[in-house]
Amino acid sequence: MYNQVLINKRIKPFKRKIEVSSDKSLSIRCVLLASQAIGVSKISNLLISEDVINTLKVIKKLGVNYKQKGNNLEINGFGINGFNIKKKTIINAGNSGTLARLILGLLVKIDQKVKLVGDKSLSKRDFSRVTEPLKLFGVNVKSKNNSLPVEIQGTKFLRPINYIENKGSAQCKSAVMLAALNAPGITKIKAKKSRNHTEILFKELNIPIKIKSKDNYDHIEIEGLKQFQSFNYSIPGDISSSAFFIVLTLLSNKSEIVISKININKSRIGIIKILNKMNAKIKYKNKKIYKGEETADLHVKSVNKLKPVNCPSSLNSSAIDEFIVIFLIAAKANGISIFRNLSELNKKESPRLDIAIKFLSMIGIKVIRKKDNIKIYGNPNLKLKGKYVVKDFLKDHRVFMMSCIAAVTFGGNWKIYDKDSINTSFPKFLKILKNLGAKIN
Ligand code: S3P
Repeated sequence: MYNQVLINKRIKPFKRKIEVSSDKSLSIRCVLLASQAIGVSKISNLLISEDVINTLKVIKKLGVNYKQKGNNLEINGFGINGFNIKKKTIINAGNSGTLARLILGLLVKIDQKVKLVGDKSLSKRDFSRVTEPLKLFGVNVKSKNNSLPVEIQGTKFLRPINYIENKGSAQCKSAVMLAALNAPGITKIKAKKSRNHTEILFKELNIPIKIKSKDNYDHIEIEGLKQFQSFNYSIPGDISSSAFFIVLTLLSNKSEIVISKININKSRIGIIKILNKMNAKIKYKNKKIYKGEETADLHVKSVNKLKPVNCPSSLNSSAIDEFIVIFLIAAKANGISIFRNLSELNKKESPRLDIAIKFLSMIGIKVIRKKDNIKIYGNPNLKLKGKYVVKDFLKDHRVFMMSCIAAVTFGGNWKIYDKDSINTSFPKFLKILKNLGAKIN
């Protein structure tokens, strides 16, 4: 089977309502928290993608049983630290940074060695950002050159910690929050703003948590050793998956899209704020609150005059997975867009800042980089005719999807490798794109 797509036609105007895949961050968090609850939790609309399937495989390996029918899941939890594991357990997080980092937080009290491994991309990523705070709890945790494999051996003698998270990483914050469930007393976290799904779920599950919100940081306090009960949860759509179709619509001619039931948590909507600064006029309709999370239908229309943006870095964390596709809008904007402090982009499934700059240069867009800041010189008349090959991007799903959106909107003859990468987060991406009229071989 070929694992590459060929695209040589621009998409025709479309007017449609679509549903994208369910939210990955919430799917992984719900599975992990259900594994620590007492009783049977029922999760519906679960994202069925490799990252979530790996999450299920990991909890199973740790002795937690579940039943899955399509995207409905029942997990039978035995409480906090209710794992039942064999000697020399090895768990594999595949491609998922969220799973790998969060599961370490749940292993802090297991008095046996567990080895965590992952795929080639995950094995290049930094794990000291979670192993260092976990050591403060009293846990024995070792990694090879600060990356995978990581070996963790928990302890019954945990102590709560004071921790400052200053990267704006929800994965680091959440790993510490999950570890805090097992520690006696109060764990205190000062965390640079980042997605707050774990905090919202803790509140919903009546886990004792106090949050004081300041401009750039949140002060979080968690009281450990407080058991919580099983729960029901229906996962909303993923704004990070929607991002590709928002950008597709903005870059297409005379098109409109409605993307239904998307999680629009304030800590996730950086893309909407940035694109609206660029004249996108994206609207929310049918807003609802569900278990502390806000959802809405997104209404997007094509735009003739895209404006450049001077992007405030305070929006970085809330758009962290979307920059790679936001840059396509900057490439078509009428002027120079500026993005700053993007070092975290190079810490993702692939070095996305480096890859984005190469990609933009390949399609003839001038980019100037100074350290982690970039200026993108937009060209409102961007129309491509050449041949373009996208490969060697560590099978990063978001690089693949961004390249497809560029190909069907800017024109040219494209060969894009590693189509299977979409299975990590958004398996129906190509199907939806084809249903909108894109010609893809
Ligand atoms: C995620 C947090 C972000 C994001 C990732 C999912 C999460 O990573 O890039 O795709 O679910 O917590 P960081 O916390 O490393 O920024």
